[in-house]
Amino acid sequence: MQLDTQSKLGSNTLALHWIVGIMMIMLLAVGVFMEETKAYALYPWHKAFGVLIIFPVILRVVWRIKSGWPPPVREYKKSEKILSKFVHYLLLIGTVILPISGFMMSAMGGHGVEVFGLELVPRNPDPANPMEVVPLNGAVAGIAHELHALAGTSIIIGVILHTVGVLKHHILDKDGTLLRMLGAKV
Ligand code: HEM
Ligand code: HEM
Repeated sequence: MQLDTQSKLGSNTLALHWIVGIMMIMLLAVGVFMEETKAYALYPWHKAFGVLIIFPVILRVVWRIKSGWPPPVREYKKSEKILSKFVHYLLLIGTVILPISGFMMSAMGGHGVEVFGLELVPRNPDPANPMEVVPLNGAVAGIAHELHALAGTSIIIGVILHTVGVLKHHILDKDGTLLRMLGAKV
């Protein structure tokens, strides 16, 4: 196991950042698109990948607790340090809240959760009209739905701030922050 240093990031940090990061960007985009357009064909895909991301997310959180945050490539201003740490915490916590709230919303709402054919929580059809569902717990499903939408919007803003920050380091400061996250020794 390779630890993160000021000049190079370990393979755990690199692999987990990009697996979770790319999956998050896709899930956020699909989530907003399907909610806006009511593209129901996308729901099972969103739900399946949304459940599967929890595995690399758990590994990532455990890895952060065990190894700490990567040291910065150089000394930053205090304000920059605080802002980047705030955004990193927001993104990491968002990767935990989104799958859990999504799961609770669908499961407690009676819609069920299936991961590519593997039924985790069955759908709860309304006996009077099997096209509709009966919530298992409507109050919990409602709160989870609110949380899912709120966390989704916050994380989208977080990802934008994160990307602007990374580009600032690369283009204005010309430091190795981005190159190091792409695997280079800086
Ligand atoms: C990291 C994982 C996830 C991310 C980033 C994510 C992101 C999103 C976003 C951004 C939206 C649109 C919300 C809005 O604009 O109001 C959404 C909607 C939705 N998500 Fe997720 N989601 C994730 C996991 C899950 C999981 C695990 C499930 C269920 C098992 C799920 C079920 C849904 C459903 C059903 C909607 C549509 C709600 C509606 O039509 O009212 N999501 N998701
Ligand atoms: C546009 C794509 C992305 C790029 C170019 C990018 C780039 C980077 C870079 C260069 C760093 C290192 C910062 C430093 O050295 O202090 C970093 C760290 C980090 N990024 Fe991203 N990132 C992207 C997307 C994401 C996404 C979508 C998430 C999560 C939702 C995320 C979460 C994090 C976190 C939590 C860190 C702190 C270090 C770690 O835990 O690995 N990133 N990112």
